[in-house]
Amino acid sequence: MKTRIYKISEEVSESEYDYIKEAAEVIKKGGLVAFPTETVYGLGGNALNPESSKKIYGAKGRPSDNPLIVHISEFNEIYMLAREVPETARILADRFWPGPLTMILKKKSVVPYETTGGLDTVAIRLPDNPIAISLIRESKVPIAAPSANKSGKPSPTSAEHVAKDLAGKIDIILDGGKVDIGIESTIVDLTDGAPVILRPGYVNQKMLDDILGDVLRDPAIDNKAGDDIRPKAPGMMYRHYAPEGELTVIEGNMSDVTDKINELVRTYDEDTVGVITTIENRGRYNYGTVMYIGSRKDEITIAHNLYAVLRKMDECKIKHIFIEGFSNEGLGDAIMNRIIKAAGHRILKV
Ligand code: TXA
Ligand code: MG
Repeated sequence: MKTRIYKISEEVSESEYDYIKEAAEVIKKGGLVAFPTETVYGLGGNALNPESSKKIYGAKGRPSDNPLIVHISEFNEIYMLAREVPETARILADRFWPGPLTMILKKKSVVPYETTGGLDTVAIRLPDNPIAISLIRESKVPIAAPSANKSGKPSPTSAEHVAKDLAGKIDIILDGGKVDIGIESTIVDLTDGAPVILRPGYVNQKMLDDILGDVLRDPAIDNKAGDDIRPKAPGMMYRHYAPEGELTVIEGNMSDVTDKINELVRTYDEDTVGVITTIENRGRYNYGTVMYIGSRKDEITIAHNLYAVLRKMDECKIKHIFIEGFSNEGLGDAIMNRIIKAAGHRILKV
């Protein structure tokens, strides 16, 4: 299959709207369209069509027990998908939708088990991106969309990343440029009474606590290597977000961290080893491929650059990658969650 790639600006001009219409036709006919959201690119299909969802799993090479997130274009569409909409869902939507928050609710029977990975619950999100919203509206169906990467790889933050993983396997890529946030949405489970965070994201614990009181956190999020607490979001079980090269996180006091990384990189051939660091440590590494992810004072930029830097390390064929640890505060919680998963829990504390 030849994948059509269309550039669209965030304003979605009238002539660009023809691409949205073409993409919506593809969705209606059961095909697949990758599109930008404010978090990462999604790989979309008709959420109500089991065949579309099967195609999504096929294109990504994703295990079919890992459910998809269903994207809607306005709040009221939630009633078509969810059997019960608790008051908390309305409160969260008021505050965070459109935006990087996914809610788990009890599903109605129109949502096929192919979309929910066999679960009786459904993940729902109203994204904050005009291209995504136009596509969902024009398709006239909710759109199931996991991140548009090959299963296990870092999520795509640009159309180039999507093309690299999925060109030839999907019908259309809507290229809306680089995404805004760069890591996936926060997932909150509302099916069990008290809300529970299943995956940290841009909407952090404190933001949720501020409006709902103390929000719980799935203990599996903080699994250590060897723990086997089963996460409530099946996708959190798999090694994920990972580059081809072996990633190791070094945590501790910054000067010990840089010393340790300097020692470790020298145990490898210079052209096979890489370091991911921040501008605060500029000049402290001079062996192997050194990439900067931003400033420690600006976690928004770090989140924005994380996956692109991991992918760049692969492009440079780096086999051993070392990354400095970050604080767990605020957005740092989501950043460290993704880094630790990408590292397959290889963490060294110094
Ligand atoms: O920001 C995002 O959420 C992006 C964009 C495209 O919206 N999507 C995304 O989808 O990250 P994906 O498929 O890569 O991750 C979905 C996560 C998985 O960990 C999955 O297990 C979980 O959501 N999930 C989906 N439905 C669920 C359900 N019913 N119960 C528990 N977890 C669920
Ligand atoms: Mg994903």
